[in-house]
Amino acid sequence: MAHPASCSGAWAGDPESVRILTLCAEFAPFAKIGGLADVTAGLSHWLSGRGHQVVAVLPYYGALRTQGVRLEPHAVVGPRYWEAGANPIRYAVHRLAGADPAGPAVYAVDAPDLFGGSVYSSGENEAMRFLLLSRAALELAVEAGFAPDILHCHDWHAAPAALMVRERFAAERVFRQAYTVLTLHNIGYQGVFDAVLLARCGEAALTRLFAAEDLREGQVNFLRAGIAHADALTTVSPTHAREIQTPEYGMGLDELLRSRRHRLAGILNGVDYGRWSPEHDPHLPQHYSAADLCGKRVVRAALLDDLGLALPAGVPLVGLVSRLAGQKGIDLILEALPAMLDRRPFGCALLGDGEPAYVAGLQELTQRFPGWVAHVQAQDEPLAHRIIAGSDLLLVPSRYEPCGLTQLYAMRYGTVPVVRMTGGLADTVTHFDPSTGIGTGCVFRDADVGGLTWGLDTALDWFGDERAWQQLVRNGMRQDYSWDHQGPQYEALFARLAGG
Ligand code: ADP
Ligand code: GLC
Repeated sequence: MAHPASCSGAWAGDPESVRILTLCAEFAPFAKIGGLADVTAGLSHWLSGRGHQVVAVLPYYGALRTQGVRLEPHAVVGPRYWEAGANPIRYAVHRLAGADPAGPAVYAVDAPDLFGGSVYSSGENEAMRFLLLSRAALELAVEAGFAPDILHCHDWHAAPAALMVRERFAAERVFRQAYTVLTLHNIGYQGVFDAVLLARCGEAALTRLFAAEDLREGQVNFLRAGIAHADALTTVSPTHAREIQTPEYGMGLDELLRSRRHRLAGILNGVDYGRWSPEHDPHLPQHYSAADLCGKRVVRAALLDDLGLALPAGVPLVGLVSRLAGQKGIDLILEALPAMLDRRPFGCALLGDGEPAYVAGLQELTQRFPGWVAHVQAQDEPLAHRIIAGSDLLLVPSRYEPCGLTQLYAMRYGTVPVVRMTGGLADTVTHFDPSTGIGTGCVFRDADVGGLTWGLDTALDWFGDERAWQQLVRNGMRQDYSWDHQGPQYEALFARLAGG
């Protein structure tokens, strides 16, 4: 199949292959805050490896420029001006220079006035960023003559594209056969803004596609509109697909999601084991495998050293690698851990940045238990790998978790996940039974201090039983959540849509 190596000329392709235009706010390794980046990149690479033509478009954030991520000099779109807000905004779309030539074609929208700083901003700037991402990505397809079969929009940030193909771009030939797929990674973020913004950005014609109930309140909700108008909806685990149709987990969208349930599928995320495997992870001081776990002890020792933890030999280390957001159950950790640390010996290696109250809480915990608890407030990819590899247990006590990736990574690295029974955590971790030796982690039910305490106590007790523990570790390492397992479900969905 001809790979979309450049944007000039026609995009000839194998008739069996599907052309996919992917829009997202994050794409690893260029722009990453959480799992969205791993999944957009992992899925795009897998699909392109399967012979599909994947074009991915993300914003060229100021942080990318600072980190030395380069654009190819030739702009495929623009420079153009977008008449939005007080001053016209200059933008252009370029191919990213550092992207893997064997992978998907990755493009970035360069608009320094909008995309300064890191991945997310707030308020009107945030709305404008993602209106422009959609508009520029669709213009890229038009300019390049790339006629996608699938317009794959990730989260609210890309939902405007699913609307714009019905309005501004409705007459464009390249979109005549395009089906829109909206993947819901996290409905906790919906993109709700003042409705006047649409007119201010020259997108007043989109107004009719937004929910009347929101417009009456003077608001637009990008995610709600995307859900209402996409041809197909996916979320990132089967359990979460069911959960979001309930008032408890639906975040105000459950009624709409129930009404569109025949278009909604739950497809579990895959893991890119090329990046996440202890056998060849470049971030580890020593490699290891299920056949020889000696290296894991070396990684643990180096990690303890790095973090200034002084655990006696044989004392378990509990890791956490998480955005510090309400979703993640950090409040439960802050409430439960002091009493547990007073009662029994274990150490904690905590990596996370986010809401200031949680940062302060974790810092306080480190001060109260010096040498036993360390918290690093940073976005630090190498350290994330070392904590996941060097810990004995990984805590994921989420209040809701659409899929979750860290528990999948943990299992691969022989680190036992302690998770709350929700969403993708419930779908991927099975509670261990020491009497049968079956199970991959510890699963607790209640999102409260009692639930978390029970879960962590249970797993720490297992740690004391060397034989059971070895079995549990190896059960996890044997799991396979590669894209080879999960990707075909997207492929089947896309083929079904593209086949009419
Ligand atoms: P979410 O997408 O909700 O944040 P996931 O479990 O799906 O949760 O994905 C989290 C991803 O972000 C993982 O790749 C994890 O290693 C990474 N991550 C989270 N916090 C940090 C951090 N502070 N530094 C580096 N990586 C982090
Ligand atoms: C979201 C979810 C997480 C999921 C990730 C990638 O941010 O919180 O559960 O794994 O997206 O799909």
